[in-house]
Amino acid sequence: MLRTNFLGLDLKNPVIVAAGPWNRDGESIRKAIVAGAGAVVTESIVSDTMLDVRPRIACDERGAQNIRLYSDIQIEGWERELKIAKSEGGVVIASVSAHTPSEVAYLASKVEKFGADAIEISISNPMMESLEVAASHADVVFEVTRAVVSAVKIPVLVKLSQTTTNISKVAKAVKAAGGSGVSAINTVRGILGVDIELAEPTLSTYGGISGSYIRPLGLASVATIAQTVDIPICGIGGINNYRHALEYIMLGASAVQVGTSVMLEGRDIVSKIVSGMEIWLKTHNVESVEELHGKALHNLKSFDEMKIEPTISTANGAPCTENCNKCMGSCMYGSISRKGGSIMVNKESCTGCGLCTFVCPAKKLKLEW
Ligand SMILES: Cc1cc2nc3c(=O)[nH]c(=O)nc-3n(C[C@H](O)[C@H](O)[C@H](O)COP(=O)(O)O)c2cc1C
Repeated sequence: MLRTNFLGLDLKNPVIVAAGPWNRDGESIRKAIVAGAGAVVTESIVSDTMLDVRPRIACDERGAQNIRLYSDIQIEGWERELKIAKSEGGVVIASVSAHTPSEVAYLASKVEKFGADAIEISISNPMMESLEVAASHADVVFEVTRAVVSAVKIPVLVKLSQTTTNISKVAKAVKAAGGSGVSAINTVRGILGVDIELAEPTLSTYGGISGSYIRPLGLASVATIAQTVDIPICGIGGINNYRHALEYIMLGASAVQVGTSVMLEGRDIVSKIVSGMEIWLKTHNVESVEELHGKALHNLKSFDEMKIEPTISTANGAPCTENCNKCMGSCMYGSISRKGGSIMVNKESCTGCGLCTFVCPAKKLKLEW
């Protein structure tokens, strides 16, 4: 039911554990495979390992900021680590990162020899501005992808940045260079917050924001690529449960990656997402997850295609049970009022913007034609 073919790899399910320090060595990757992941991506492997800054990860209830950088294990050490990682089977994707096409190709050919099943090129790290800039340039992405594709026989995924003016153009460059697929998205450059008593930002430099904060960005990136380029997509960003995973799949992803929620909740989240998907498919009589691939895309129109429908909000005369007044407070057109215990909508002034249907905690307001 969840078995899927992604880049020619046979995955027992489409839930992949994303690159990050939770996959920092062979043993942690092996554990992620045992926890039920369809595949696991290593932390990014580089030729010049760097000392970690401290502290480097902060979080709040909606996500995280990290300035973690890359794997601290030298490339040669990954021969040992990949053996451990694959000691109980499973699919391992090696993430590699470097500044020049030949350096990335060199790392990719090494990890292929060490047993990696696929490569993910990470050229979108928001902590390294040069890489983030490179990720926006389709010609640079083309060169890097082509160098890696000609150096290895295994599938090559390219991990894209959301911070680019035209993600379709970059995904097209990956396809033109022979890349097997794209992953979208990496973390997004940001600052989690500022302690106003100390006048101190949460972390002392800009970092990559991940988790729920970036899910809408990831969903839009995946949908945009799916609508414009015929290439397999791995959806990433803010997946905390099976619903989020299915959202990405319905917008065109063939597989998904989970990072921050593994970091914050542990590897058990993987089996929770997998079993949640399985139950959802069963209760909706869907035989294969592949049937859901891109299913929501036909409901995603371009702005030009949208029609101006005479939609207005209605409370349907239902009595309000919440007394929160959120609908009245948020109605910019002054169209909502209360009469006794009931919420009333003025049909003359309501413009059908739809906001009240989202703010009402009791879901009393609906849009009607
Ligand atoms: C602490 C941390 C370290 C990360 N390290 C890497 C990395 O080494 N290579 C990479 O390509 N992405 C890295 N990422 C990005 C994740 O793989 C993923 O793209 C991003 O966090 C969005 O997914 P999420 O919201 O599920 O975490 C890292 C993310 C975090 C939070």
